[in-house]
Amino acid sequence: MSAARAILPPLALMLALFGGCKRQDMYAQPKAQTWDRNNFFAENSTMRPVLPDTVSPDDANQPVPQPAAADPAMLRRGQLRFDIACAPCHGRAGDGDGMIVERGFPHPPALYAQRLREAKAVKLYDVITHGHGVMYSYADRVAPSDRWAIIAYIRALQLSRQVPRAALSAQDLAALGEAR
Ligand code: HEC
Repeated sequence: MSAARAILPPLALMLALFGGCKRQDMYAQPKAQTWDRNNFFAENSTMRPVLPDTVSPDDANQPVPQPAAADPAMLRRGQLRFDIACAPCHGRAGDGDGMIVERGFPHPPALYAQRLREAKAVKLYDVITHGHGVMYSYADRVAPSDRWAIIAYIRALQLSRQVPRAALSAQDLAALGEAR
């Protein structure tokens, strides 16, 4: 049998099978649902028993791990994680005009708004952990130590909007491309 003859029937079958694929078909594929009976597990249920010491992500009484003292390395880490996890919406300077917002996601408030400058660090920690309004939770994407690093960096962003020109050193001004 030539290679073409060997390959054509399976190819035709694949086209017939998947040609009309829609997202709904992918969604409706056979799969185990939460409440289904399931002989694969000893309990005969798909739902798994809760493991000892499991803490609900919704448990408001969870202790908040305390931050390490902020140092330059923490700020650099915070900037890195902020640019990855937050800037797509909040913008790299915290203006709230990130790429995703430009494409239609609701506009977040400026991170240097008075209200957020006055907000306690733990409130910002809570927003990253649990989300806020249309912003979803980043708990599974940003580790607790990185949340504090991001908050330290947000504080730096907030401060950068407030520093009077007179407080800048010649080196700072040079970095901004300005002369004193
Ligand atoms: C997918 C877009 C998106 C991403 C990514 C995102 N946010 Fe948000 N964020 C929003 C929006 C939109 C709001 C406003 C939500 C509302 O008021 O309904 C918001 C609100 C906030 C607020 C203000 C809460 C308040 O009290 O008004 C803070 C602080 C914040 N985000 C921090 C962060 C941090 C830190 C990250 C990164 C770990 C992050 N966000 C990632 C979209 C995003």
